[in-house]
Amino acid sequence: MRLACGAALLNLRLALEHSGVRPVIDPPSPLAPPTALAEVRSGGRTTQNPAERALYEAIPRRRNNRRPFQETPVPTADRHALVTAAQREQGRLHVLARTELDPFAELVHRAHRAQMDDERFRAEMDHWTGRERDASEGVPAAASGPLPEPQDLWVVRDFSGGRAPTRVAGKDFEREPLLTVLCSQHDSRTDDVRAGQALQRVLLTACAHGLSSSVLSQVPEVAETREELRRMLGGSLHPQAVLRFGYGSPTPETRRREPEDLLLE
Ligand SMILES: Cc1cc2nc3c(=O)[nH]c(=O)nc-3n(C[C@H](O)[C@H](O)[C@H](O)COP(=O)(O)O)c2cc1C
Repeated sequence: MRLACGAALLNLRLALEHSGVRPVIDPPSPLAPPTALAEVRSGGRTTQNPAERALYEAIPRRRNNRRPFQETPVPTADRHALVTAAQREQGRLHVLARTELDPFAELVHRAHRAQMDDERFRAEMDHWTGRERDASEGVPAAASGPLPEPQDLWVVRDFSGGRAPTRVAGKDFEREPLLTVLCSQHDSRTDDVRAGQALQRVLLTACAHGLSSSVLSQVPEVAETREELRRMLGGSLHPQAVLRFGYGSPTPETRRREPEDLLLE
């Protein structure tokens, strides 16, 4: 939830800059309600630069693409742009090396099994996924990928409520996915919000560069596998999100809530 709020905060920063306001972000003041994560104030007028404007314009186009991607590798310059985007928000984006993919896939399966053994997790997952196309919240079945199959080493979750389209023969997920781990330097509430802003800057940068992306959260969500991933990456950073990039086919959009529904007087 804090990552998602951080992602929304980055959108807000970009939108304010777009309308000529320089946002100043502070930790919540002691007087703020305990659930407050940040305070946003006006720091005067500003003009958005073209690179930031490109990210602002990517906000409505960015979507999670759970479908198979092409085998075409992502060019080095684009990978570099993703790594730099994370750094801009004090995050670190670790690109998994080819040799790290198998041990990582093993972690995904372990995390997935742990979550599927948890009745409450299953109930929550069922509640939020596999929805009708025009549902105002949650993930519509149409935005899920094909059902995972045993040969898919790292695609395990079904977001379609069992309604995913049957897979076209031979159209498997890419053999060598570009998988990255977004990490924070520390592990506090503030770091989660910061990591959410890094998450969104990386995803918007990908979108602005014509890349598709998806989020795979099992490993960082389960304490044990999160710790193992942390050790796998050298032990000094905290894994927050796993992101996959590539070139995907168009995927339907997930509806947004109306901004008015989210405002409290
Ligand atoms: C912190 C975070 C974790 C997420 N983890 C997953 C995940 O594990 N699998 C997945 O398919 N989508 C994941 N998502 C993506 C959301 O399901 C998605 O953003 C939401 O359905 C809205 O769709 P959109 O991104 O296409 O707008 C995650 C999103 C956030 C912010």
